[in-house]
Amino acid sequence: MTPWVFPMPGNERFGAQVGAVVGARLGIIEYRRFPDGESYVRLPQAVEGDSAMLVCTLDRPDEKILPLLFAARTMRELGIRRVGLIAPYLAYMRQDRRFRSGEALTSSCFADLISEAFDWIVTVDPHLHRRASLSEIYRIPDHVVHAAPLLAAWIREQIVEPLVVGPDAESEQWASEVAVAAGCPHVVLHKTRHGDRDVVIDFPDVSGWKGRTAVLIDDIVSSGRTMVMAARGLRDLGFSAICALGVHGIFAASAYEDLLSAGVAQVATTNCVPHTSNAIDVSHAVGNAAADLHGKI
Ligand code: R5P
Repeated sequence: MTPWVFPMPGNERFGAQVGAVVGARLGIIEYRRFPDGESYVRLPQAVEGDSAMLVCTLDRPDEKILPLLFAARTMRELGIRRVGLIAPYLAYMRQDRRFRSGEALTSSCFADLISEAFDWIVTVDPHLHRRASLSEIYRIPDHVVHAAPLLAAWIREQIVEPLVVGPDAESEQWASEVAVAAGCPHVVLHKTRHGDRDVVIDFPDVSGWKGRTAVLIDDIVSSGRTMVMAARGLRDLGFSAICALGVHGIFAASAYEDLLSAGVAQVATTNCVPHTSNAIDVSHAVGNAAADLHGKI
């Protein structure tokens, strides 16, 4: 039977794109907040017996998770047998260890909430940190979409003589893969994080690459400090053309403006998180992944 795709509020455009790829019926979720801040959720259409995919990117997750769980549970109560989650950005991947005694292991708490509510999950490049795969904490089948080929295609089309720059050791995986696919060199910087907004970047010798356009690549741009400090350093080292490419553009507070002020001429992100910088469409890859997983379960 044809599945439903239900975009949560704010995900209508991405949900419609995914729905078209999957060949799904597009459903509606009515949502509003009561004056006291509680959520009202309603599925106005008859859905009994079907399977469904909920589309909800999970940046700013605290305000999204309860309505999402309410919607998933309501679907089951109304007779939907299988409910999958399409979360282009998956939140709470950071705190996977108790760095200080008594800290909440929010990555596994969040994974449990999602695993209990959904039958499967599709996401894009989750920030795995110390985990080898999503299945270490999520107890449901997953399909992870990798944005690297799409980032590389963007570079090939947009940038003449690029130098891919990974701002920290963790970005080596993206930087090297994207650089190979884009047919250009890459370099990886060294980052020390002293606090949420306190980041120091050390540079290897990059003098041999001067004259190229430095393309900073990271999986997440959150406070923007990583990219800002890397861009400032590159500018100080004589790079006059700098752009920034992010899979997930969260852009907390003034992060986007800070990047432009740091001398970044162009900021491009995927549409995993809606933002004015979205220039790389992942909806086709996400839709194919959802269709694949939905067909197997
Ligand atoms: C961390 O290792 C990630 O790959 C990103 O570098 C990090 O999330 C970026 O955060 P921010 O924009 O706050 O510096």
